[in-house]
Amino acid sequence: MSIKTRSSGLALLSGALVLASGYLMLPEGSGGTPAHAETGAVTFPELDRLVHYTTVRRGVTREHMLTNQSALEAIQAGKPVPTGTHVVLVDHQSDVLARYLVAEKTGGGPDDWTYQAFNPDRSIKTDDENPERCHSCHQSRQDRQYMFTFNDARSFKN
Ligand code: HEC
Repeated sequence: MSIKTRSSGLALLSGALVLASGYLMLPEGSGGTPAHAETGAVTFPELDRLVHYTTVRRGVTREHMLTNQSALEAIQAGKPVPTGTHVVLVDHQSDVLARYLVAEKTGGGPDDWTYQAFNPDRSIKTDDENPERCHSCHQSRQDRQYMFTFNDARSFKN
């Protein structure tokens, strides 16, 4: 009991401190900072259950694209991928793992894709692009389930 009370007290206190320091550090009129409103909405997938369906190479960059088998089957059947589908871009720079870019189908509508960048240790990467930018760029592929490598997924054979 006492532990519970104390930790919620601490949470309140640190919340107040964050608010206070945020307030103090903001130059007048610059507004808030929540550039990552969607943080936490995407879950990190179990990578070993996904299928590596294509690789994109550009200079020192090597990107492995992964998704689940049922998404590949849906794409190949011309159907929408199931809700809960993860599509992952595993980004290597000069053969070193640099980050994971994850797109998750978070709802039944065609636009219900949510995006998040993760660090190599799978924690949320906060210095990457704003997830809203990910979504708006991928929106140009609306007719291909928001995927740039849609054709590779469609022609992939296990
Ligand atoms: C300016 C456009 C643009 C932005 C912004 C962008 N992407 Fe992409 N994304 C691409 C392109 C183009 C590819 C195809 C691979 C390549 O060319 O490197 C791709 C590929 C992917 C893939 C592999 C599946 C696919 O669509 O082919 C995932 C997953 C992905 N991006 C997630 C993200 C995430 C997460 C973010 C934000 C942190 C993001 N993207 C931001 C253009 C963009």
